[in-house]
Amino acid sequence: MDIYEKAAGILLKAKKAVAFTGAGVSAESGIPTFRDPGGIWEKFEPEEIGTVPALLRTAKNNPDLIRRFLLDTVKVFEKSKANPAHLGVAKLEALGIVASVITQNIDGLHIDAGSQTVFEVHGSLFRARCLSCGQRFPLDRAALFKRAHEALDDEAGFRIENMTRILPSCTCGGLTRPDVVMFGESVQQLEEAFQATTACDVMLILGTSGVVYPAAACPEQAYRAGAKLIEINPRESCFGPIVDVFIKTSAATAMPLLMQLVESR
Ligand code: OAD
Repeated sequence: MDIYEKAAGILLKAKKAVAFTGAGVSAESGIPTFRDPGGIWEKFEPEEIGTVPALLRTAKNNPDLIRRFLLDTVKVFEKSKANPAHLGVAKLEALGIVASVITQNIDGLHIDAGSQTVFEVHGSLFRARCLSCGQRFPLDRAALFKRAHEALDDEAGFRIENMTRILPSCTCGGLTRPDVVMFGESVQQLEEAFQATTACDVMLILGTSGVVYPAAACPEQAYRAGAKLIEINPRESCFGPIVDVFIKTSAATAMPLLMQLVESR
């Protein structure tokens, strides 16, 4: 049987599937992955920007690196929009097949695509967190990008203090930071994510290398709980031994083909 037919058959029997996604699902939205050739960890060192202490150290010793990293990120994110893979996942939820999405991505594209139950375990770039009271609040995309350009575009005039102007202050007056998870920080909504993985009957794994824990434990948990696993990735990941169907191509190529079959039955 054709692998697409097999994957569609598995999805059509599912009642509470979970989509587990990583950077690869947004690659065709123009957002580079972390570990592929040309990926983020090739351009910037995790030791320079991957943790809060590293960021603070780099801000002091090499502020222009922080400026370039943030400006690169802003330029990529302001152009990105949901692609057919995000839309397919949202459609699977609307059809009652997918119950939730667990994503390691901070780009908000699953929510933009219409997915309703999304656990953003590594946080979101479009949410701020107060450093004083801990309150989280959503950020307006256009306003965020405008303030970021004002703070970062001028290479010669850049001062590291400009960064505090990118995010709005909290209603309590406290400074805020992006609500994203850096290395060494606690993953968000982990309990909800693990509940979903142990309860799911199918897991659809899209575009993740599966090397960053604890999120990467989700497929193994689903497998142990008896779920069938479908993976879409142009390269082999470490989930090979436990997946039932491996579709070796890009997520935005495979999802429309898969959705055609799911919707025609
Ligand atoms: P990686 O960069 O580690 O892996 C990306 C995966 O996507 C690889 O397996 C690629 O083969 C696959 N891929 C590339 N293009 C694809 C496409 N068009 N369609 C489908 N798959 C494609 O990214 P993640 O697994 O998401 O964490 O990385 C996990 C975490 O490591 C990130 O959330 C981030 C990072 O450090 C933090 O920053 C805390």
